[in-house]
Amino acid sequence: MTSFTIDNGLHNNHTDMSHMIYLDNNATTCEDKSVIESMINHLKCTNSFGNPSSSHFLGIQARYLIDEAREQVRSSINASYSNEIIFTSGGTESNNLAIHGILKPNLNKLQHIITSPFEHPSIVNILKYLQNSNKNIQVSFVQVDSNGIIDLEHFRQLLKPETKLVTIMHSNNEIGSIQPIEEIVNLCREYGSSDLIIHSDASQSMGKVPIDVSCLDVDLLTICSHKFHGPKGIGALYIRQGIKLEPILYGAQHEQGLRPGTENVLAIIGLGRACQLISNKYSLNKRIEQMKRTRDRLYQGLIKQFNQNDENLIIRNGNEQCLPNTLNLTFRGINAKQLVNQLSDRLAFSTGSACHEDNQHQIISSTLQAIGLSYKSARSTIRLSTSYMTTDDEIDQAIILITNAVKQQLSSLDNEHQNI
Ligand SMILES: Cc1ncc(COP(=O)(O)O)c(C=O)c1O
Repeated sequence: MTSFTIDNGLHNNHTDMSHMIYLDNNATTCEDKSVIESMINHLKCTNSFGNPSSSHFLGIQARYLIDEAREQVRSSINASYSNEIIFTSGGTESNNLAIHGILKPNLNKLQHIITSPFEHPSIVNILKYLQNSNKNIQVSFVQVDSNGIIDLEHFRQLLKPETKLVTIMHSNNEIGSIQPIEEIVNLCREYGSSDLIIHSDASQSMGKVPIDVSCLDVDLLTICSHKFHGPKGIGALYIRQGIKLEPILYGAQHEQGLRPGTENVLAIIGLGRACQLISNKYSLNKRIEQMKRTRDRLYQGLIKQFNQNDENLIIRNGNEQCLPNTLNLTFRGINAKQLVNQLSDRLAFSTGSACHEDNQHQIISSTLQAIGLSYKSARSTIRLSTSYMTTDDEIDQAIILITNAVKQQLSSLDNEHQNI
């Protein structure tokens, strides 16, 4: 198997030094060098391995590191108090805790939820579970336009006195569309009931656009560390002070009684450092500029290769105001899965999002379906996502690799037609 190196200065001990280009940053990101260093320092330190709940010196040291990371997370989203941050195992758990934790105390009453048609499975499936197991739970899906943006008028119409929870992702993982969360919140405050709770899954947005909970005015916000160069298996849920949730795991009183289990101190330190790196506006803007510049270079390069001869060979999905790193493209007539496989040892990227195919079912991703793509187009759709680590040179190589692989598919399609 081909190994690959991503040059963050620490992964330098592979025997095979072939370089793989990584354009799958919406799936996950490579840990930042200083995130890794902060975690290594912790592992090497002999006086902070204690259980953070212990009251002796070693426990106090570990507790101090958690408190420090909590403050770093707070600061990165401009929350008012550090106790508004609860550490979880990642985006999935934060989403489950937000939804189930809010609805659980009132399962014997009618509770209406509004969501979008293309949330992550960690939203969709907890809602499905609750709806299937309890007749008091009603879920409505707001319409979206062909760029994947919520229809605000439809949203307003869906609001009713029993609407208890609104959960709308801040940005979409496939096409990168960014939702008008502030406007959604304003509508909720104006037309919704006074106890309506607003949650937003910002897993894909942190580190790519500024996130400020005091401007967004949401009650709950999901943070997922590995999408912005932090470690995997750690995340956080912002819970605005005064919002009441029930835990969804049962155990001791960790994390203010909301998330039992001895804290993953190592990963929490890594998440804290990843948040610190994006807290400074100047550093965040520099990252955004770099990911946007390389993303745009990629798009322009591919357009130049293909659309000069055939204007409609490449169709871009989503609008210009989407996440700065995301490029979702339909290559008409191409099999996206095959394209990913053709390049799997040189270029990392994804199909639009896993399309399931069997003899009876043709299922396309909920995002591509929501923006109106046909099964045929969805099958030809790829997602390329850059990061601040992506270089121009990598982009230029990626353009050549994709161009050659697409041309290979097109010419074998031509041959097939000729042989019919
Ligand atoms: C929008 C969104 N929400 C939640 C998650 C879940 O994150 P994790 O798998 O790390 O729990 C992801 C990860 O792909 C995501 O893209």
